[in-house]
Amino acid sequence: MSDSNTSYKKRGKDYPIKGGLRTLPGKYYHSQEIYGEELEKIFYQKWMLAGRGEEIPEAGDYKLFDIEDESVIITRTKSGDIAANFNVCRHRGTRMCVEAKGHFESENIQCPYHAWTYGLDGKLIASPMMQSLESFDKEAHHLHQANVHEWGGFIFVNLAQDPISFEDQMGTLIEKFKDWKLSELKIAHTIKYELECNWKLILQNYQECYHCPGVHPLLSKLTPFQSAIHDCNKGAVMGGYMKLEPGVKSMTMDGEPAGTPVCDVQGDDMRRVYYYSVFPNMLLTPHPDFVLFHHIMPRGNGAITNTCHWLYHPDVMADPDHKERLQSAVEFWDLTNKEDWAVCEQMQQGTKSRRFTRGTYSGQEDMLYALDQELLRVLGHKSPE
Ligand code: FES
Ligand SMILES: [Fe+2]
Repeated sequence: MSDSNTSYKKRGKDYPIKGGLRTLPGKYYHSQEIYGEELEKIFYQKWMLAGRGEEIPEAGDYKLFDIEDESVIITRTKSGDIAANFNVCRHRGTRMCVEAKGHFESENIQCPYHAWTYGLDGKLIASPMMQSLESFDKEAHHLHQANVHEWGGFIFVNLAQDPISFEDQMGTLIEKFKDWKLSELKIAHTIKYELECNWKLILQNYQECYHCPGVHPLLSKLTPFQSAIHDCNKGAVMGGYMKLEPGVKSMTMDGEPAGTPVCDVQGDDMRRVYYYSVFPNMLLTPHPDFVLFHHIMPRGNGAITNTCHWLYHPDVMADPDHKERLQSAVEFWDLTNKEDWAVCEQMQQGTKSRRFTRGTYSGQEDMLYALDQELLRVLGHKSPE
């Protein structure tokens, strides 16, 4: 019997597959058990993108960060800091907040069940009639805290009891893209996509342009697919850049700029579009004149919500010409995104087949192999033979 990992069958004859790094087996996109492991070892352990600080500008503003069993309330506190607390009442465990975002008018978080009330920072401030219990210790009933870190205007959270430091996970990212002054940028446009594919397929798709000539005719005119250069492959952060064709200024429908250069961006960076995947749930794409990022949240092993944001400097957004140029960048990336989503969803379906065991990477997909190895390392799985 032929082994489809090492050979393929054609007209009844086995042909060996020579060379090429092998993809993950199909079960990594479909197994409920592996998805459960990913939740425990990745999504409940690693730093994850949760949004932008500008989404909760005022004290009392909040947004939820929900992933499977867990829900975290991210609030702007009275001191202006950002707090992240588990959305779990310390009385009897009720999920307190159900709206995805909003504002706590009373500047506190109140459980709807028996009215235990917490400050915006999660400190228990009222617990009706509990004072009659002599041993009741209010201090010990602070909401369970999640870890929170701001970088470049992005909010990251970590749900682990004993988290890896943000610097250890994201080291390479911290010094990168300083010229874009990411913390000064604001969201100019957002599109939310609901996709029927495993979260890893989107990260993989983002890290190779082998598919570009066939899938993205317009993108390929602006940045030739052979121009992809990988300049970073360090655990959670990996990526590189593609060069703009001579005469092309940015990734827009007509190749003209979508705005003036972002902050201090100059020199070689004016001719490049960077593609950085920040494992496990962020894709960051700095252009000379704007920044695009994708926020990926899994919804089971075969679906994700992928929210795409376009960031601009507020001065550029104030420019009356800005709207039309922004629209060109939005239109270009919406078109390109949809081209990608279609092949990712088709790959999700195809890899379910019993005939799919593993595929073979091309020489232009070495970064995908690196992503696979990072996944296997974090899951503690041996590399499949
Ligand atoms: S469960 Fe929250 S106050 Fe009772
Ligand atoms: Fe693509």
